[in-house]
Amino acid sequence: MNSSCTTRILGLGSHVPSLVVDNQSLSKSVETSDEWILSRTGIRERRIANEDESTSDLALGAAQQALSSSGISPSRIDLVIVATITPDMAFPSTACLLQHKLGLRKVASFDLEAACSGFLYALDVADAMLASGRYNIALVVGAEKMSSIIDWEDRTTCVLFGDGAGAAVVGKSREGPQLLGFRCGADGANPELLYQPAGGSKSPACSATLESRGHYLKMNGREIFKSAVRVMEMATRELLEQHELEASQVDHVIPHQANVRIVESLANRLEIPLEKFYCNLEHHGNTSAASIPLALDEASKQGIFKQGELGVLVAFGAGLTWSATLVRF
Ligand code: UT7
Repeated sequence: MNSSCTTRILGLGSHVPSLVVDNQSLSKSVETSDEWILSRTGIRERRIANEDESTSDLALGAAQQALSSSGISPSRIDLVIVATITPDMAFPSTACLLQHKLGLRKVASFDLEAACSGFLYALDVADAMLASGRYNIALVVGAEKMSSIIDWEDRTTCVLFGDGAGAAVVGKSREGPQLLGFRCGADGANPELLYQPAGGSKSPACSATLESRGHYLKMNGREIFKSAVRVMEMATRELLEQHELEASQVDHVIPHQANVRIVESLANRLEIPLEKFYCNLEHHGNTSAASIPLALDEASKQGIFKQGELGVLVAFGAGLTWSATLVRF
């Protein structure tokens, strides 16, 4: 493959709300404990947006940072994709709102919904659109205000999630981490394993849906746990096989940040040392589509990636969806 022709990451950025909510404070509102949350998930604290902060505001902070780190003038962006399951509103898209907030040209802008796999799906879509030759530089964002769809009375879910955003400017260039390959998949057989039952066309908002708390996220945690490990292992293996690589050649894995036990099981199954997995879920919880770009940006700022090293970004989410992306740093 001609390396000058592949899509590269030209800049990264992230943004989280300032309010830190630790496990101790959650134990004052639901029957839980720091000990339970930490030992079952690895999460200590999460960032929660205030009432005035919407997903597009979080996306804006991350996008501004990514643009500034890329050194690319916003006027050169000709495609905006925002991956989210918590858009500011059902429509118009959060990407359109972001385009305006950033003062970009009137370029193609749309949201992509693949839950926690959304950012990696969006990178795949951006790469294909850039490869078509009709677009040159894309802004790809994963942003979520999960606190807006969390049932704060449900201890089985409210302790798991957080708010935040991460962004990447991607385009054809001779420098920067190269996006070498993608492996996206989905299985829609069991949507109720992780879903928000009400508010869509199947169950429009009404007093009954409010009463049944149908506008909040519902999850079968145990089943999702098992599926997560299985599909992330599968996606990673298929991606490596496609590129004739062995797991031992992988220098870094940036997994979806949902539960440290999921990450440990994945490392075990792939026989990749846990030290190669980057985890920041201790401080952010599960930020859904923001999880991978937030972790990627943090790890990158910490100087973890050395030039020439190989990385796998791998996610799973509601749908079920999954995605793995191969990066040469
Ligand atoms: O992006 C994708 C999003 N989702 C995920 O990745 C979630 C995947 N699943 C998980 O991470 C785990 O399944 C959980 C962290 C959600 C749950 O951990 P678990 O070890 O599977 O616990 P469990 O569901 O089997 O529950 C064990 C017990 C239950 O009590 P009983 O029935 O044994 O008496 C729960 O009611 O723990 C109880 N429990 C809690 N206790 C204290 C559930 N949530 C809590 C809590 N605090 N917050």
